[in-house]
Amino acid sequence: MKIIKIICLPFSLLFLNSAGWSQSANDWESGEQIFDKVCQYCHINDVGPILTGRNLPPIYFSTIARNGQNAMPAFRPTELSAADLEKVANFLSQSLSEENQ
Ligand code: HEC
Repeated sequence: MKIIKIICLPFSLLFLNSAGWSQSANDWESGEQIFDKVCQYCHINDVGPILTGRNLPPIYFSTIARNGQNAMPAFRPTELSAADLEKVANFLSQSLSEENQ
């Protein structure tokens, strides 16, 4: 019995590890969640302009986020995948401003 535990331990550790990794590797659920985690701390604290409720097309957000603009950092595909970028761009494009909410 003990020997089985010893054999299994490295595998279970491996499994735990890979599960932990996939969580941290950008397993975002929604565009809003991505905005909250990745963009918000600059864009609601006066570092960058307010992005919600601007009625801009998704391509505007995704282009600037991918390429950067002046003080705005560029987000590489390893940091923000194409699918996640599309999600956050769609969320922002459809978002309402604070006053309209
Ligand atoms: C480190 C701070 C920071 C983060 C994080 C950040 N931005 Fe920005 N962003 C800026 C700044 C500063 C500007 C203003 C750039 C300029 O002066 O042209 C800006 C500008 C923009 C603009 C242009 C706004 C306009 O009024 O034309 C868009 C769109 C934008 N950011 C989208 C995003 C998105 C989407 C994210 C998240 C994926 C994000 N930003 C994350 C700092 C940030």
